[in-house]
Amino acid sequence: MRLFLDTANIEEIREINRWGVLSGVTTNPTLVGKEGLTPEQVWKDILAEVDGDVSLETTEPQAPAMAEEGRRLAAMGDNAVVKVPMTPAGLQAGSKLVDEGIRINVTLVFSPAQAILAAEIGAYIVSPFLGRIDDAAADGMHALRQICQVYDVQGYDTQVLAASLRHPMHIVDAALAGADIATMPYEVFTKLVKHPLTEQGLEKFQSDWTELRKKLGSTEGA
Ligand code: G3P
Repeated sequence: MRLFLDTANIEEIREINRWGVLSGVTTNPTLVGKEGLTPEQVWKDILAEVDGDVSLETTEPQAPAMAEEGRRLAAMGDNAVVKVPMTPAGLQAGSKLVDEGIRINVTLVFSPAQAILAAEIGAYIVSPFLGRIDDAAADGMHALRQICQVYDVQGYDTQVLAASLRHPMHIVDAALAGADIATMPYEVFTKLVKHPLTEQGLEKFQSDWTELRKKLGSTEGA
C-alpha cells in the first residue's frame, strides 16, 4: 500500500518526502484554501516537489465546465490526477476526461455502490472517505473492505485510495483490507513512526553509550 499526504502545505510535504516514504499527495479545495497563496501556485509547488501522483480537485458544478477545468488541471504536470466528485456531473465530466486519456480520482465516495460507478467510468483512483463515514455513525472500514472485495471479484483496475483517515490504526486496517493507497494528514503521518518503546529504547542506548565513553575516557586518562 502506497502512502500519500492529504495536505496542500509544501513544508509538510517536503518533510515527509525527505523520509523516502511519500508516494503522492491529495489536495482538496479546503486544504488549498488554508495556504494563503493562489491555488495555481500551491499546485505548481506540490507537483514540482513530488514525483508521484498529485490529486488536484475540480470545483465547477456543471459537467462541461468541470471537464474544461479538469483539462487545465491535467495540463499542469505529468503527475497531476484530476479529482471529480461522485455526482452525475462528476461522472459525466470524469468519463469524458477518461476518454481523453486523463487520469481521474473520483472523490467524496461513501458507499460500495458509488465505488462501482467510479470503476465503471474507468477512474484511475476512487477515494472512499472513511473518517467521515464514521462521523455519520456508520462503519467506514466496513465500507472500505466491501469496496476492495467488489473490485477484486470484478477485476476492476481502479485503485482504491482510503481517505479521511484519522489515526494510525486506520492505516493498518486499510492495508489489511487491501487498499492500494492510504492518504492522511501530516499529524497522522508523523504518528506512524512513533512508539513509546522506541523512544525508551533509544534513550537507554544513548545513556549507556555516554556512560561507556565516559568510562573509557577516565581509563585512558589514568
Ligand atoms: O482529502 C480528502 C479527505 O481525506 C478529507 O479528509 O479529514 O477532511 O475528512 P477529512
